[in-house]
Amino acid sequence: SEGVTVAELAEALDVPANDIIKRLFLLGSPLTMTQSMSNDLVELVADDLGRQIKIITPEEENSFTFYDDPEDLKPRPPVVTVMGHVDHGKTSLLDAIRHTGIAAHEAGGITQHIGASQVEINGRQITFVDTPGHEAFTAMRARGAKITDVVVLVVAADDGVMPQTVEAINHSKAAGVPIVVAVNKCDKPDANPDRVRQELVEYGVIPEEWGGSNMFVNVSAKTHQGIDDLLETILLQADVLELKANPDTFASGYIIEAKLDRGRGPVATVLVNRGTLHVGDALVAGTSFGRVRAMIDQHGEHKTAAVPSDAFEILGLDSVPTAGDEFRVFEDDRDAKKLADERALKARIEEQNKVKHVTLETLFSEM
Ligand code: GTP
Ligand code: MG
Repeated sequence: SEGVTVAELAEALDVPANDIIKRLFLLGSPLTMTQSMSNDLVELVADDLGRQIKIITPEEENSFTFYDDPEDLKPRPPVVTVMGHVDHGKTSLLDAIRHTGIAAHEAGGITQHIGASQVEINGRQITFVDTPGHEAFTAMRARGAKITDVVVLVVAADDGVMPQTVEAINHSKAAGVPIVVAVNKCDKPDANPDRVRQELVEYGVIPEEWGGSNMFVNVSAKTHQGIDDLLETILLQADVLELKANPDTFASGYIIEAKLDRGRGPVATVLVNRGTLHVGDALVAGTSFGRVRAMIDQHGEHKTAAVPSDAFEILGLDSVPTAGDEFRVFEDDRDAKKLADERALKARIEEQNKVKHVTLETLFSEM
């Protein structure tokens, strides 16, 4: 339950430690370099130095606001999230789209993390995000992450609407994201795609052919029936949205997933939603900082630049960020480092406040 030390605060604020010690003395709290300070004291001293440290919620802290001139906006590819009930075939459908075989290799056939991949259809790109269920998506949305433009709702034609189908609908509607329904497993003898349509009406997801606003496509991830139709439908839906972003500025976006790789260190999958990310850029994501050492696409190919809607793995961060963290590139790497340090400091203060509830009794009983 150690707090922030005088030395750490000095570093985070970029002032000599002696200045802080002096001020602490004048405030009636003489402390040395390695002693830790209370949250109130941190705020007081920072205030005294003309700097404001305020403990704010992660949601507030994680959102940057950017302004783009409409003239700078260029069309960008759609980012599509595949959602649906367990085992209804989300990963299989993505496999069919990518012509790969990820589902067959997954431990227990259950998606363990969020993966991102890009496919090209008739010269147009779509970025797909696979989800392990809805928790990660919910967490991201709760933190204000705007990661997806279109949701593909996968419903197995032999199973129909299930609890997680309804959850996915609720999440999509709350986020204001349009839903394209992929009625999957249509190859099965007991498949009943019309029943799926009827069931979904109850939840306000109504086929266009019935006067609603949702596009439906019957597919089979197994036989690849309807896959091309689904991709065209996604692009049609994306066209309606007129997706745009400014590519000619410093990059920002979201961390889709992150892990510690034994050989490569922290590895993060980033989704760019504004600007262009280059190798060598100084980047902050949550409390992580680093210069982009390498960028790698889903085929393992190295890239030098990532434009809006690109999702690549990046190497070079000093720690593992959290999925849903917003990332941002800084012109000056010192600014990036400072922001990461200040966030780490705030995180420590928050952590400390959570842990430490010292009363006179507990203080004496610990002695
Ligand atoms: P979670 O990641 O666990 O939520 O599952 P998922 O939705 O990604 O489902 P997954 O792709 O792992 O498929 C679940 C099972 O359904 C697997 O055994 C697939 O082979 C099977 N399956 C998926 N799509 C089809 C299909 O179109 N037809 C048939 N017959 N089986 C399918
Ligand atoms: Mg899956």
